[in-house]
Amino acid sequence: MKTALTYDDIQLIPRASKIEHRPHINLKTLVSRRYGSLIPIVASPMDTICEKEMAIKMASCGGVGCIHRFMSIEEQSKQVIDLSYTIYGDGFTGFFEDWGIMLDDWHSEIKSVPIMAAIGVKNEDRKRAKKLVKSGANILLIDVAHGHHTIVFDMIKWCKKNLPEHVDIIAGNIVTKEAAEYLQYAGVDGLRVGVGGGSLCTTRVQTGFGVPNVTAIEDVARISNVPVIADGGIRTSGDVSKALGVGASCVMLGSLLAGTEETPGKIIEDRTTGGLYKRYRGSASLETKVAHNQEERNVEGESAIISYKGGVKFIINGIVGGLKSALSYNGSENLNDFNPKYNIVTNSGLQESNPHLLK
Ligand code: XMP
Repeated sequence: MKTALTYDDIQLIPRASKIEHRPHINLKTLVSRRYGSLIPIVASPMDTICEKEMAIKMASCGGVGCIHRFMSIEEQSKQVIDLSYTIYGDGFTGFFEDWGIMLDDWHSEIKSVPIMAAIGVKNEDRKRAKKLVKSGANILLIDVAHGHHTIVFDMIKWCKKNLPEHVDIIAGNIVTKEAAEYLQYAGVDGLRVGVGGGSLCTTRVQTGFGVPNVTAIEDVARISNVPVIADGGIRTSGDVSKALGVGASCVMLGSLLAGTEETPGKIIEDRTTGGLYKRYRGSASLETKVAHNQEERNVEGESAIISYKGGVKFIINGIVGGLKSALSYNGSENLNDFNPKYNIVTNSGLQESNPHLLK
């Protein structure tokens, strides 16, 4: 038995730095074994977070959006076609030219923008996988709550055998080194890490299972030879720095992106106050299950109404700014060199870390 830590339990320790200009700091990273992105941010495949509008905007910001699977195969494939067309239409166009330029010196094996979509593990998901790849997806994410499972292992094996060679497979969610070894043995190209730490998750309350995020990322990243995506529980750019600092290659975001213009769903207006809102719901919430007529009704998530935040670019810019500042505190010019040490903090340390004058 060991003590497990999460973001609020640690604080990264500043190091000697020579960085003079933060804009020169490079945030390129790997999303999966062979595909890179220009910033380490992936939008979560939730039905209130990522469809094609979010994926297009994420790509234009240098990140990635994973198109969710809570729709028909035809509808999801159409979204992937629209996304691919926007990005690749006639080769890189407009802001996507930056990707071409940046990828020239990129260490990823495949020099293309990731087009990522989620699949499940049922029989029909094999059909879904084939159709998505035909539509342009080059990364498929096997999106299940408990990734350390034979059914996930079998799905990875099937994908590797039946899909074209250029397709990378990411699987999760997992939180242990044993699970990472197991999925790597099946041939996975990326690992999604985090169980029960998401802002709307009730898994830990309902089942008692899960591992606090920092320990989960460290345990997996220490033995992993494929990129690790830290998923769930990230509330600030400081949490992003901590996740990357302890071994993740990128982070997956739900709540930080929720309520933005590019998320699916309508803006809700409160007529009395004039306040604007959007819905954000857990993939395993009752609301999601009812909305998609899912027969299996094991609820492990909640739903919420979030203040409308405007365009997602503003949120991404804030995270990128915080992250560049974090790299400068560590004297790092890029994420490859970002391996900060940390202290474990007490409750008083945590209180001191947040603005406290006005309380
Ligand atoms: P954040 O904290 O960014 O977390 O909002 C997003 C991640 O939460 C996970 N997720 C769920 N986990 N029940 C769960 O236990 C759910 O209903 C649920 N919905 C999403 C998922 O990993 C997502 O990326």
